[in-house]
Amino acid sequence: MAVTESQVVDALRGVLDPELGASIVDLGMVKRVEVDGPAVSVAVALTVAGCPMRDEIDHRVRSALAGVPGVGRVEVHQEVMSPEELAEVRSKVQGAPPQAWSAPARGHRLGHEEGRANPFAVASSPTRVVGVSSGKGGVGKSTVAVNLAVALARGGRSVGLLDADVYGFSVPAMLGVSARPQMADGKVVPPEAFGVKVMSMGFFVGEDQPVIWRGPMLHKALEQFLVDVDWAAPDFLLVDMPPGTGDVALSMAQYLPVSEVYVVTTPQLAARRVAQRSAYMAKKLNLPLRGVIENMSWFTAPDGSRQEIFGSGGGAQLARDLAVPLLGQIPLAPALREGADLGVPAVAADPASEVAAAFQAIAEAVAAQRPTRSKPEELRSR
Ligand SMILES: Nc1ncnc2c1ncn2[C@@H]1O[C@H](COP(=O)(O)OP(=O)(O)O)[C@@H](O)[C@H]1O
Ligand SMILES: [Mg+2]
Repeated sequence: MAVTESQVVDALRGVLDPELGASIVDLGMVKRVEVDGPAVSVAVALTVAGCPMRDEIDHRVRSALAGVPGVGRVEVHQEVMSPEELAEVRSKVQGAPPQAWSAPARGHRLGHEEGRANPFAVASSPTRVVGVSSGKGGVGKSTVAVNLAVALARGGRSVGLLDADVYGFSVPAMLGVSARPQMADGKVVPPEAFGVKVMSMGFFVGEDQPVIWRGPMLHKALEQFLVDVDWAAPDFLLVDMPPGTGDVALSMAQYLPVSEVYVVTTPQLAARRVAQRSAYMAKKLNLPLRGVIENMSWFTAPDGSRQEIFGSGGGAQLARDLAVPLLGQIPLAPALREGADLGVPAVAADPASEVAAAFQAIAEAVAAQRPTRSKPEELRSR
């Protein structure tokens, strides 16, 4: 079976640049691929001459190609990128963390460098990390995270909000924040809106730009969102969790070993699968499930009557299935969507409204929960 060029390129797609953490194909580092029978020759352009990673790249390319059936002799030619090519790579990883973040110390590990400890992973952290999660998309997870954060802040707590839904970030728009965060004293200063300090991938990527990063880069970005951001030890750090148990969710769980998880659901019954997914997620991530929040519970008509548009009982059933409390129900309110679109959360726009009162009550219920604390030995082993 003859080896084809596209097989070679596909195999190389899985090769990550050791420093940028992205595919050498996506980064445009693969300059030529020649196939002659079983012999394959690949030209890889390095970002700098005398790149200390050249042996590593050579090794990664060879091991990737060794896995392609029919490949015999492999030649790897290393070249150096022209300034134009380098600019191209920069634009590809653009949307990447700010300049000061782009050259992380090699071989560093979370919390192992002076001044780069993860403040949320230490047993003495005063912060309750509250993950807002859902078993499926579109249930209002971000809406709940944002309004809950603002409600907690209005109740006098210091609050941070981390948008960990990196591929589907929506927090900046919901809070009307678009400014790129500034650096001060080597730390990133999170923008503040409605009393909430915010960090999101959205600050570094254009609204309509896809996030092209692969696992390792995302992992690194999330780490930096925790470690290099000046959160100032808030009472609460709310996390708009990504859906499911993908890479990002796992990274978050690893970095935030003491987070509590709250699941947002809708009133529809037949939510068993959602319950199973949520329970599975928490178990896989080794995080405690602490409560259920039902969203879109009813619509209050102008005549004051309640219409249960999406049915009823889903939140209570999920809470029963997961053996956690149902912390509250949030009505369907056009003001909630309008607020999200305008960048003014409903809780702040109209604190006297029914929906704001619902969030305020849930915020108090969350605050009244007994905080979860991991044992110090668990923390040390991370
Ligand atoms: N209780 C509600 N009443 C009215 N609109 C809502 C409500 N909850 C969410 N929405 C709207 O539904 C859409 C999806 O909500 P969002 O928070 O983005 O969901 P998720 O983060 O789970 O994908 C948004 O347009 C949001 O404004
Ligand atoms: Mg969302």
